[in-house]
Amino acid sequence: MNKRPIGDIDPRGKRVFVRVDFNVPFQDGSISDDTRIRAALPTLRDLLDRGAGLVIASHFGRPKGQVRPELSLAPVAQRLGDLLGAPVNMLSDCIGPEVEMATSTSKPGDVILLENLRFHPGEEKGDEAFAKQLAGLADIYVNDAFGAAHRAHASTTVMAKLLPSAMGLLMEKEVQVLTQLLESPERPYIAILGGVKAKIGVLENLMRHVDTLIIGGGQAYTFLKGKGLDIGKSVLDEASLDLAKRILSETASGKPRLLLPTDVVITTELKEGAPRKTVPVEQIPAEWMGADIGPATQKQFSDALKSAKTIFWNGPMGVFEIAALAEGTRAVAQAVADSGAYSVIGGGDVVAAIGQMGFAQKMGHVCTGGGASLEFLEGKELPGIAALQDR
Ligand code: 3PG
Repeated sequence: MNKRPIGDIDPRGKRVFVRVDFNVPFQDGSISDDTRIRAALPTLRDLLDRGAGLVIASHFGRPKGQVRPELSLAPVAQRLGDLLGAPVNMLSDCIGPEVEMATSTSKPGDVILLENLRFHPGEEKGDEAFAKQLAGLADIYVNDAFGAAHRAHASTTVMAKLLPSAMGLLMEKEVQVLTQLLESPERPYIAILGGVKAKIGVLENLMRHVDTLIIGGGQAYTFLKGKGLDIGKSVLDEASLDLAKRILSETASGKPRLLLPTDVVITTELKEGAPRKTVPVEQIPAEWMGADIGPATQKQFSDALKSAKTIFWNGPMGVFEIAALAEGTRAVAQAVADSGAYSVIGGGDVVAAIGQMGFAQKMGHVCTGGGASLEFLEGKELPGIAALQDR
């Protein structure tokens, strides 16, 4: 990666605008997973240690250019302050006179967090005037928001052209890990895909790189349908059915090896306490739906993972939010952890699942960007990275 790292900039006495991705999950009014906040700390600490003042900015949720108080970053400011061990000055907007006053009088060591960038329509539109207002708040621009690097927004791409720019430590690490998966994975390389929607570009690209492709979770039912099986009320991604059929025929030779569920846990309703049973995939009744991989599939997937040297995993194996339907995801997490392979986990759902299940520390690298990591592995150039200054 030929982009300028933050080690190459001198932030002493400067105000550094750091674009982070603090789009964290919330449950019952509080942050349920602060991985993304923790992941930004090395960059923030490095800049503070080297004498910078910080103007930190992020999006949160999809307010679509409207002020939505429930999407304020204020709770994030609190958590950031606790983690950094420093006061965080949370502002009520990201542009305007109050913000200009606070940033122009800030000193080295000060930490300012701007309010949700997406409260302004200019952010997602990539509006130049909005980007200029943001750029006016600082002397240097650092992008550490890997999770938003696939978005061409004012604060992720346009700003990089308005100020001297560099990529943060998190961005650098994510790019290095994913580049290695693309260019020189240690083999055997196994990809595990779950979640509902099959992602065409990702599947096509992974097919060319991996030795084994494991498909579980919601998208497995599209493949089972593609094999001609009745899937009852299981989720079907109609738009990907032809792709699934093509992949089934292209992998018929065993290169790469394709593993699909052979048994599934089915239910009548996606809620705690609903009836459920385990059946072979050929026997899903019309009124039931598949909601997790069954024990035989868990064993088959786990056995395959034993030989892996590199693993990429995106998407849970079942509806893990319901305790009785989390066993498939837990078994795969255990197998990934036990495999000794270098494992890269991407995608909000699966990251949350392994966090809740206590596996996060046992993985090689937990990506902070779901969509961004998938687009990177598709071989696409991410606009938030491309816009940064070269070394
Ligand atoms: C994410 O959570 O994937 C990133 O923060 C990007 O969010 P977005 O999909 O709303 O642009």
